[in-house]
Amino acid sequence: MLSLGIETSCDETAVALYCTNHGLLGHRVHSQTTVHNAYGGVVPELAARDHIQKLCPLLDVLLDATGVSKQALHGIAYTAGPGLLGALLVGAAFGRSLAYGLGIPAVAVHHMEGHLLAPMLEPEPPAFPFVALLVSGGHTLLVDVRGVGHYHILGDTLDDAAGEAFDKTAKLLGLDYPGGAALARLAVEGNPRRFRFPRPMLDRPGLDFSFSGLKTHALITLQNTGADPQTCRDIARAFEDAVVETLAEKCRRALRQTGRHRLVVAGGVSANHALRQTLQTLGAEEHAAVYFPRPEFCTDNAAMIAYAGGQRMLAGTAESLAIHADARWRLDQLTPP
Ligand code: KG4
Ligand code: ZN
Repeated sequence: MLSLGIETSCDETAVALYCTNHGLLGHRVHSQTTVHNAYGGVVPELAARDHIQKLCPLLDVLLDATGVSKQALHGIAYTAGPGLLGALLVGAAFGRSLAYGLGIPAVAVHHMEGHLLAPMLEPEPPAFPFVALLVSGGHTLLVDVRGVGHYHILGDTLDDAAGEAFDKTAKLLGLDYPGGAALARLAVEGNPRRFRFPRPMLDRPGLDFSFSGLKTHALITLQNTGADPQTCRDIARAFEDAVVETLAEKCRRALRQTGRHRLVVAGGVSANHALRQTLQTLGAEEHAAVYFPRPEFCTDNAAMIAYAGGQRMLAGTAESLAIHADARWRLDQLTPP
């Protein structure tokens, strides 16, 4: 079963070909960061327009590179949400129409299910069940996963997502959008003992998160000390340490609460080196195996969408001719294929 994945939920245009027998045949990502940089964040209208311009040529490049013809496809998986509605509609209309033209099924894929299943593209994928920590620009979720479509939300963020907190703090430090990875590079040279930021929500039971206070803490620290280069590095370090420790502690609680022995970590922030190291150590302490996607599949890509859609196609899922796009689609609304 050969599926084409299409991802346009935010500021990456991406396409991928996944074969349920032979694995990933190829993928391409076009990032729009240069389009949005000047505005300090994603401009939804510009995102949608850029997807329109880039999607067709990007697919041609992928088909050329892999030697696959459109007629060889068995189905098309497109991201239907959550995300920016205009951006989602570009991929959804394109994917649904191409599937109609080719006479093959189309499957609407949940973006976070894509992230959650991204580690399945690795040589040693996790078996079900597992606990998943999903940390992206828009979401911070702890999920108990019993199989594809069996998702029980254990914890959610009450305000900013982890990636959003990274990006907002990075902006305060003068870094370009999206600044998560750049902040992490600053943090490497930061002094971990100069500032100590709070660990939000660790002093109370439960698995929810709250990260917006950390950005405020960074702002107040900056106002008190000034923004010389070493102070920026030290703040980056204090911020990253606080986020990583908070995420790790909630993962520990989730593993203990569910009795699971596998932890999957995915979404853009799972590319963070400090987080990966800390969670590996936690896994050893908690006798749990820890799984991450390779860094290029942590951030938005279509390989994860082609994979997730492929699993649903294998089970016979095929949707109506409607074009599905739901900016606020919840992960726990999904059902097994
Ligand atoms: O999953 P993703 O590509 O898009 C969403 O679905 O939101 O995640 C993007 C987020 C951004 O907030 C970005 O700053 C963050 O992931 N990110 C990182 C790193 N790489 C990407 N945050 C911290 N450290 C990184 N190395
Ligand atoms: Zn994402």
